[in-house]
Amino acid sequence: MARTPLMAGNWKMNLDHLEAIALVQKLAWALKDAKHDYSEVEVAVIPPFTSIRSVQTLVDGEKLELKYGAQDVSVHEKGAYTGEIAPRMLAKLGCTFAICGHSERRLYHAENDWVVGEKARAAIAHGITPIVCVGENLAIRREGRQVERVLIQVDGIFNTSTPEQARATVIAYEPIWAIGTGEVATPADAQEVCGAIRGRLAELYDQDVADSIRILYGGSVKASNVAAIMSEPDVDGALVGGASLDPEEFSAIVRYQQHLSA
Ligand code: PGA
Repeated sequence: MARTPLMAGNWKMNLDHLEAIALVQKLAWALKDAKHDYSEVEVAVIPPFTSIRSVQTLVDGEKLELKYGAQDVSVHEKGAYTGEIAPRMLAKLGCTFAICGHSERRLYHAENDWVVGEKARAAIAHGITPIVCVGENLAIRREGRQVERVLIQVDGIFNTSTPEQARATVIAYEPIWAIGTGEVATPADAQEVCGAIRGRLAELYDQDVADSIRILYGGSVKASNVAAIMSEPDVDGALVGGASLDPEEFSAIVRYQQHLSA
């Protein structure tokens, strides 16, 4: 089954709304210069909440094919939840994606698999595609228990998701020891876990559902290492942190197929 690769840039807590406009413009120009076909590789930027409206205005005004999203979303519809952002608000801003359960949210905001699953289902209810994050820490990796750990997360997140909800989800496998460290997983490491995730989805649902879900790799992805990772059969894209803040570097990541044929 053909899954369209997705390259998503997670800006984390970087760039104010003016800087966000400048980065999206530069990225769009770089991809236009390279005659990038967005139907072949989907491209998304995930800025902080405060920049989403500016990115929307730019994308709409210049009819860019870039997609964008949010770094988190509330499980609640509305009400007395100070500091939270409802999925309806993100939908209104034209968000295609919402990251759910990034390891930094799990670490600093105590999010667990159940909450991550609830966030994903809340996003889907408003037509937003959740990018749910899973991944093991260094201690678990050293014990060789990465597959076991990640499958527990997958079970917890998809616990009450219907096949339709599963199909509407993107998964990002991000080993915590590889995030922002410059220590990228080998293509074989990425494939081992991404393949196991797809296997578990086939058990939870069926092979057709499992084959329709995009599984991204994330953790120190750069233009120099993305092509090898993307050549693995169960890796359908990348969630890119640091390198997505550099428009030239991110556009080179998006165009990884050119490195393959180079
Ligand atoms: P990194 O971050 O590319 O800077 O390692 C990836 C992520 O946390 O999504």
